[in-house]
Formats: sequence, structure tokens, C-alpha cells
Amino acid sequence: KLAKLRGLDIGSLQLAVVTTAKYFIPHLIGEFYERHPHLDIHFRVGNRQQIVDYTGEDDDDFYVFSHPPKNQDLELVEFLPNRLLAIAPEKHPLATRKNISLQEFADCPFLRREEGSGTRHAIEHFLQKRHVDPKIRMTIESNEAIKHAVMSGLGVSILSEHTLAFGGRSGLSILDVDELPIVTHWYLARRKSRPLSPAAQKFLEYARNLEKVPLGKLL
Ligand code: PGA
Repeated sequence: KLAKLRGLDIGSLQLAVVTTAKYFIPHLIGEFYERHPHLDIHFRVGNRQQIVDYTGEDDDDFYVFSHPPKNQDLELVEFLPNRLLAIAPEKHPLATRKNISLQEFADCPFLRREEGSGTRHAIEHFLQKRHVDPKIRMTIESNEAIKHAVMSGLGVSILSEHTLAFGGRSGLSILDVDELPIVTHWYLARRKSRPLSPAAQKFLEYARNLEKVPLGKLL
């Protein structure tokens, strides 16, 4: 009943975000929530493919991707850079080196995300364009598990800086590999055919103003 009253008061907001965005979107929501403390917010997380599938269901007001699908019905707001960094265990021989070549990095056993992951898609695209073939050691369905696998010495990887900034990076080194980081951007997406609720309208204005916020402010 309370939720219903709250709903009448200001409304609800439903968001679906990719796994790497789950580290910083809650921080943005924190600030937004302070301005609209009666808002009823629902938040779900999946890999890129799962969020693409959700766009077909019309349950969510907004989606957050770094690689939005080509869908005419999606309106996109580009709002923050997303850098993908090369990581290795702290004691790795490359950890103290400068200007590591991409080939040398690719010769290390690589831990990759699952099929359907936007991070994996970005890395594959980047390496294919440069004709570099990584030595895949393991496929792991979670950023956190990849981080821990890297810490334990299983291999190297490339992950979004957000997973390191908010999820902790003790035991990891960021490698100075030529041409890295891979720079992508986050997009807030909404279906044009879905009517904008008052809460969604406010969130959209808030996100548009964020376009100019330097990442340093969030990290
Ligand atoms: P994902 O998210 O790797 O969890 O799919 C990141 C993205 O879509 O870029």
C-alpha cells in the first residue's frame, strides 16, 4: 500500500544495466535519489545480450550499454567514457614494464568474458582489427571472478576501469600496453515508443547534464 502511495506521489523508475555499469550507476542513482527521495527504483543487471533482450520486453524505462544494439526505436544519450584496461597480477613480469607491445601482452594466457558480453565484444573487435590473437586460457562469466582469477595468477585480462575503481584492485597491476586502454562510452538508452513518465523525464534530464561530468568526479 505504501509503495502504491509512493507511486502516486512521484512514480517509479525501472533500469536495466550491463554488468560493468553496475559499479557506477548506483552512485549516480544515489545523487538522483537525494533530489527525489520518494522515487521507487527497480534495477536489474545482465550482460550486453541480456540487456538487448530486455529492450524487447518494454518493462524498463532505461537501459545502460557501452555497445547499444542498432535499433531505430532506441534513443541514446552518450554520457561517460568507459576505458578497458589491461590487468595482470602484481608480481607479473610485465607489471613493471613500460610500452609493452600488444603482441607481447597477447602472448600471456588471457581470461575472457562469456559470449554475449559487451566487454568481450569490444576486446575482440579491437584485437581483430590489429590482427592479434589472444591466447585464451579461460572463459569466465563475471568481472569479479576474472579479477580474482588474475590475482591468483591464472592469466591476464582486459576489464572496464569501473570494475577496478569501485570493486577494489588490490593484488592487481594495470599494464602499460601500447594502444590500450580501449576507449568506449556509456549510453543511456530508452525506447522512443515508451511514454516518458515524470520520473523518467527527470532522470533523462539528470543524465544529459552528466555528459559533461569528468570521470574523475565519480572515481
Ligand atoms: P558486459 O557489459 O561486458 O557485462 O556485457 C559491458 C558492455 O556492454 O560494454
